[in-house]
Amino acid sequence: MSHDVLVIGAGCAGMRAAIEAHDAGADVAVVSKLHPTRSHSGAAEGGINAALGNAKEDSPEAHAYDTVKGSDFLGDQDAIEVFAKEAPGDIYQLENWGAVFTRAEDGRLAQRPFGAAGSPRTIFAADITGHVLIQVLYEQLVKRNIKVYEEFFAWKLVEDDGRCQGVIAWDMLNGGLKAISGKSVILATGGAGRVYRVTTNAYACTGDGMAMALRLGLPLKDMEFMQFHPTTLYPTGILITEGCRGEGAYLINKDGERFMKKYAPNALELASRDVVSRSEQTEIDEGRGINGSVMLDLRHLGAERIISRLPGSRELAMTYAGVDPIYDPIPVRPGAHYHMGGVSTDIHGKTELEGLYAAGEVACVSVHGANRLGGNSLMETITFGRRAGRTAAEDAHFAPDAAVPDSALADAERELGELLGRSGGERPWQVREELGSSMLDNFGVFRREEQMSNEIEIIEKLRHRYNNVVVEDKGGVFNSDLTQAIELGYCLDLAACMVQAGVARKESRGAHARPHDYPTRDDDQFMKHSVTRWVDGAPKLDYAPVTVTKWQPTERTY
Ligand code: FUM
Repeated sequence: MSHDVLVIGAGCAGMRAAIEAHDAGADVAVVSKLHPTRSHSGAAEGGINAALGNAKEDSPEAHAYDTVKGSDFLGDQDAIEVFAKEAPGDIYQLENWGAVFTRAEDGRLAQRPFGAAGSPRTIFAADITGHVLIQVLYEQLVKRNIKVYEEFFAWKLVEDDGRCQGVIAWDMLNGGLKAISGKSVILATGGAGRVYRVTTNAYACTGDGMAMALRLGLPLKDMEFMQFHPTTLYPTGILITEGCRGEGAYLINKDGERFMKKYAPNALELASRDVVSRSEQTEIDEGRGINGSVMLDLRHLGAERIISRLPGSRELAMTYAGVDPIYDPIPVRPGAHYHMGGVSTDIHGKTELEGLYAAGEVACVSVHGANRLGGNSLMETITFGRRAGRTAAEDAHFAPDAAVPDSALADAERELGELLGRSGGERPWQVREELGSSMLDNFGVFRREEQMSNEIEIIEKLRHRYNNVVVEDKGGVFNSDLTQAIELGYCLDLAACMVQAGVARKESRGAHARPHDYPTRDDDQFMKHSVTRWVDGAPKLDYAPVTVTKWQPTERTY
C-alpha cells in the first residue's frame, strides 16, 4: 500500500487530481470513505463558471474581477487570475471526456446567468451538473485503472522526517487500521457543512481533511467564512439551485413583494450570495417571512422551461416540500453551504508541509476570499485539482520513498483501543446535535459578539464531553458508530477555529456580517487572511496578507 501520489477524497477535486497525476506518469491511488460517485460533488447543481467568450463582453479578466469583487477583496488575486484564465480549457477538456453540458440553439455550450457575474458565464447540465461531472471523472479513473481504496476512512495524516508520509485509515468494510503511504499526498476531502445541524452538505462533509491537517500543525486560513446559500429548502436544508434565479425566478416575501428591489436594485435576485442571504434573513427577522422562510417563485417561467432546465429542483421541491414549482412558490431560507476557508495552499496546491497538497473545498488557495460566487466551486475543484495533481506527481518524481512508521500505526491502534474500550459515557449524537444547533443559532448569517463568545464556551464544554463519548458498536464491519464519533471530533475542532476567528474579525466582510457592532468593511485593519493553528489543545490565531495584483478594494454594490 505505497504509491507515488495518494489522493484522499474522491469528489471532483480528488478525481481530477488523480487523473492528472496519473497522466504525468505517477503511480496513483485514491482513498475515499465513499464510493467516488457518492461524493458530495454530485450534489452541485446549477453549474460551473468559465468565460468561454460566448457573450462578447465576457473574458477571463471579467471573470477574475467578478470573483475578486465577490470575495469582498479578500481573495488572492494571483490565484484568481490563474483560475479565470485556465477555466475555459478545463471546461473543453471535460466536454471532450463526455460531459453532456446543455447546449444553446446554435450548438455552443449554453451559459446561464449566476449571482454577481457580469454576464452569463455558468455552463451547466440542466440542474445536475455535479452529478454529470463525477460520472465523467469516474469513467476516466476507471479507464486509467487508478486504484481506489474505497470505503477507507482516513483518520490520521502521518508526518516523519519533515515530510508527509501517508495516512492511517480505518477499513470500513473489513475493520482494522491500514497504513497507506504516498510520496505526495493530496487532500481533497471537501468541506465541513456538517458542523451545522441544517446544511446543504452531505452527511460525509465533516471537515476530515481540514481537521487532520490542523492536528498535524498546519495552518487553516479564513475559517470564519462559512457561506449561507440563499435558497435551501424549508425545512430540510436541501439545496435548491441558484440556477432557478439564473433562469429568472423571483424571491418574494409574505406580501408577494419582490424584496430584492430594496437590497440590490440592479442585480436583484442575482446579487452575490452573501447579499441575498442577508436580505432574506432581514425579511424573515422583520416578520415578512412565512414559517421562517421566504418564497422562490418560478411560476412565470412556465412548465416547459422548468421541466427542461430545472427538473431536479422541481423533483426536490415536490418530494421534500410537497410543492410543484410549476404551480406554487417554493419555501426557502439561507442555509450553511460552503466553507471559503480551509488548508492554506499556494497556487500549485502545495501546503506548508513537504509532500502534502490540497485542492477543492478542503483548501484555501484563496480564490473565494470572504464570499464565493455560485459556480466557482465546481470550477475550482477542476482547475486546482488538476494543478495539484500535476505538481504532486512532478514532486513525487524527486521525492524519497515514503513510509508510515510502525510507531505511528501502533500509536493509532492504542488510541483506537482506548476509544472502543470505553464501556460507559455519553452517546456522540447528543454532542453533535448541540454543536449543530448552537452553531446555527450563534454563528449564522448575522453574527453578534455576545453570541459568538457564548458559542466559544459551548464548544469548549462540548469538547470536554466529547472526551468521554462511548462508541457502543465494537465491531469491525461498517462501524458507522465509530466513524461518526471520529467525525464529531473533527467538527468540534473546526468549529472552535471558526468562531474564534469570527470574534476576532471586528468588521463586516462577505459572509461575516456584524451589523450590530461592526457594520462596515475595515480594509485598514482587516484586509488580511486569518490563519489558525492548533497549539496546546486550542486554536491560535494569526493573520497573513492578501495578494493584490491589480484590483484595489472599492465599495461593493450590486
Ligand atoms: O446553487 C447552486 O447550484 C450551487 C452552486 C454552487 O454552490 O456553486
